[in-house]
Amino acid sequence: MNIAQMRETSFDALGHTDVMSLLTAAGGAQEELFRWAREVRGEEALDEVLLRGVIEISNICQKSCDYCAMRATNRELARYALEADQILDTAHAIKLAGIGVVMLQGGQHPRHEELLEAVIPTIRHELGMRVLLCMGERQPEIYQKYHHLGADSYIVKFETSDAALYEAMTRSPYERRLSNVRWARAAGLKIGTGNMVGLPDQSAGSLVQDIHLAMKLRPDFISSAPFIPNPNTPFEGRAPGSVDMTLNTLAVYRIALRRPLIPSVSALETLKPGGQLLGLLAGANVITINFTPHRSQSLYRIYSDRRFVVSLEHALRTIERAGLRPRSLKSTIDRQGPKQQAPVRARVPQ
Ligand code: 5AD
Repeated sequence: MNIAQMRETSFDALGHTDVMSLLTAAGGAQEELFRWAREVRGEEALDEVLLRGVIEISNICQKSCDYCAMRATNRELARYALEADQILDTAHAIKLAGIGVVMLQGGQHPRHEELLEAVIPTIRHELGMRVLLCMGERQPEIYQKYHHLGADSYIVKFETSDAALYEAMTRSPYERRLSNVRWARAAGLKIGTGNMVGLPDQSAGSLVQDIHLAMKLRPDFISSAPFIPNPNTPFEGRAPGSVDMTLNTLAVYRIALRRPLIPSVSALETLKPGGQLLGLLAGANVITINFTPHRSQSLYRIYSDRRFVVSLEHALRTIERAGLRPRSLKSTIDRQGPKQQAPVRARVPQ
């Protein structure tokens, strides 16, 4: 089927070959795919781009994933964990920039529990911001605790639908990974998940399965990121993932799932200047701005040492170039603090 015919069909009815042709679309077909995804985004009234502020709170991790420089066995990387005060000051700076969602991201390690217990309630209840966590796999009762503390949502990516590849890369059970998505949801958290594109030994067929898995998981957020080879990892020296295939995946997620928030990730920009703009043109509607204190930023290396660090200015410029607007900043902050009535750094059309 060509894209015009696919548009007349329900997405569930598309076969493996059809989805594959969407994921590999190039030239005019890719433009048509992106236009379809943008139309779906418009139909769902999701054309305003949501800004989130990320604080990378620690690069200490107990896992040893082959793609990630934060892997426990990487002795070349100096480790850090922020103090509660630093996190709260940074969350405050995010609020002053007019952004109402704080994403706390870090390696998977039980030692982070105390820190999270100290900061989540303050960010939620004193600063009145939404808290999104991406801290690796946890036990079901820990997700319940996070929800109770005031967290709103949790991201745990399935990374790939190829269970054997996942287990070989991470030396951890795939079923447990998927259970984590369900546990976080059962605890009352909104859930985010997603895949990487272009992992070593990842088959094209499994990328089609990634779409079907995402449809089954029905996430509130979904992302796709190109694999980026990291120094001091077993995958150092392997080829990076294809930006085009990642963009096509984003577009297909938008068409198949329709409603979720979809970020245009910084890894797109790392591999290709203007990559995040293309993500918005392919149907994404979120940009995450990096607020990690500068000293720690370079030590946070999931996207290699040449990662692109997204600033507020870059995000606003990218949104404008895409012909879109940032979501009204006031609507993402639940309660204004006593002194900060208006955003001070962002000059954003309301
Ligand atoms: N390239 C691309 N994405 C990566 N991630 C981790 N390492 C890499 C890499 N080398 C992504 C994974 C993880 C998220 C926090 O970052 O999808 O879940």
